Amino acid sequence: MCGIIGYIGRRDAIPVLIKGLEHLEYRGYDSAGIACLNSSTSSNFFIAKEKGKLSELKSQLTKNLPHMHVGIGHTRWATHGEPSKLNAHPHLGEKGRIALVHNGIVENYAELKDELKRKGHHFKSKTDTEVAAHLIEYYYHGDLREAIRKAVRRMRGFFAFVVISRDEPNRLFACKRSNPLVIGVSAHEHFVASDISALLPYTKKVIYLEDDELVELQENTVTITQLGNGRRIQKKVSEVNWNVDQAQKGGFKHFMLKEIHEQPRVLAETLKKRIVDHDIEFDTLDSKIERSLANAKKVFIVSCGTAYHAGMVARYMFEEYVRIPTEVHVSSEFRYADPIIDKGDIVVLITQSGETADTLAALREAKQKGALTLAIVNVVGSTIAREADAVIYTHAGPEIGVASTKAYLAQLVTVALFVIKLGLLRKKISRSVLSKLIDAVEKLPYQLSEVLKQEPDIRRAARKFFRKKNFLYLGRGYNFPTALEGALKLKEITYAHAHGYAAGEMKHGPIALIDSEQLVVCLAPHSKTYEKMISNIEEIHARRGIIISIATSKDQTVSRLSRLVFWIPKTLELFSPILTVVPLQLFAYYVAILNSRDVDQPRNLAKSVTVE
Ligand code: M6R
Repeated sequence: MCGIIGYIGRRDAIPVLIKGLEHLEYRGYDSAGIACLNSSTSSNFFIAKEKGKLSELKSQLTKNLPHMHVGIGHTRWATHGEPSKLNAHPHLGEKGRIALVHNGIVENYAELKDELKRKGHHFKSKTDTEVAAHLIEYYYHGDLREAIRKAVRRMRGFFAFVVISRDEPNRLFACKRSNPLVIGVSAHEHFVASDISALLPYTKKVIYLEDDELVELQENTVTITQLGNGRRIQKKVSEVNWNVDQAQKGGFKHFMLKEIHEQPRVLAETLKKRIVDHDIEFDTLDSKIERSLANAKKVFIVSCGTAYHAGMVARYMFEEYVRIPTEVHVSSEFRYADPIIDKGDIVVLITQSGETADTLAALREAKQKGALTLAIVNVVGSTIAREADAVIYTHAGPEIGVASTKAYLAQLVTVALFVIKLGLLRKKISRSVLSKLIDAVEKLPYQLSEVLKQEPDIRRAARKFFRKKNFLYLGRGYNFPTALEGALKLKEITYAHAHGYAAGEMKHGPIALIDSEQLVVCLAPHSKTYEKMISNIEEIHARRGIIISIATSKDQTVSRLSRLVFWIPKTLELFSPILTVVPLQLFAYYVAILNSRDVDQPRNLAKSVTVE
């Protein structure tokens, strides 16, 4: 987590850094800071830091700002040391010759700190980052590149650093291991940042830095070398197709609300791209990979958080339509469980950011065990996308709200299309079934727009229940993951307790919670388990629980049993989670607003979890 940025060029560096940090703030917002230099003279750093959100730092930076051409910036998600001005980055070396921003963890920082203390260094903060700054400065004898190489050799852990020295004000360095860095290339100026959204206002030409690479940026040059042996590396410049408007709120009060409303368009664009002549195409998969994927003996799906819920839905799809045994795992469990993976198994990693530390580690573990790895990723060029054997992009566009909405939907529809493709290749789906599936999937964008029309009713429901502190979400089959996702959305942005449960498990414990105060959200669209779900709703009703249901249009039974119902149009069961989740996203959003929560930046969270 943490967002880092660096700039060198002819513009005024401070506004460039601040604008970049605005785009990176989703990665952490415990504190923010910048350090800048004037590239033509050797002088002390201009430094500004503040605890809290970027707005706190901005309010400090109002008048008489110096004109500087080189700078680094940071927005923090605290790991070592509480959120405070003292612990805010950038950090300086002992004599203030080096300034550095960091994303990651230097795992052996304590022993390095002790060693440096013995050599007379004094530390102001509790961070591992300050140790890195001191260590680089310790090795600095006029050549920053060499100092970084020597210092990094001593560090364990994972990091992305951007480093400047007041003695070499026309050079900016950055290097990485595990955590992401992208270089932005433009005429007479260069940028480096944790992700491309910070670069989009200035350039669409980027170079993705790989692990253990070190880049030196000057106004007119980009030089990349291996951190280890210093060997020069040539890298290609890629063009990104996201645009800066996609990363703006577009008239909505919050990114989350904007992203919820973008979902019909995301669905429509995904379908347009993937469905060609009544067949399904994935531009990034060649036929050899497709055949290997289709011949898999077993599928492991590995992901975290919301993406894990998409993985759970995917498991039902794989088993029903491809008939391959499928397991779904949380990345942080999978990587340490020594999973039994054979050659010929495939491991599917689902991730919006493509940078989640545990999912990346799971990918590396799977590759090492000989599996064929497929990443389903939103952020083009992200680490997981680059390291997997094959990648399918979800193309939801930048998702800025910490609570994932449109990326989840894009994951669901992409997985559904991929499953259909594999089902066809394995001859488990006939052409007539394919026709039915395609007819149903093509209706989804319109159907989703219809679901969104219930927003005023959902807002009214939130107004009735926003003071409640406990929510139970129940679902079965394809919509059991929807229950988990609805509960996750609610807890992460409202801070109320919400629990998702398999409805059939209710009588094994949670039914004890039901009384006339308990609100229960029931997912009851038409499905194979519809009647079982109705029985569960009857059981809650009999105990006077408050029932809000999500059901298929005109369902009188559900209507009779529920206090409120949000409707979804009729669809095939495998596509139903694409529609049922949307009222739950809106419900969570409005409950959060009514509780005055910071919807886009909920407490303690960050968008990409790049630490274990
Ligand atoms: O970038 P990823 O999809 O790998 O992120 C996984 C989770 O951290 C993420 O889905 C998280 O649970 C969301 N904030 C939930 O809304």
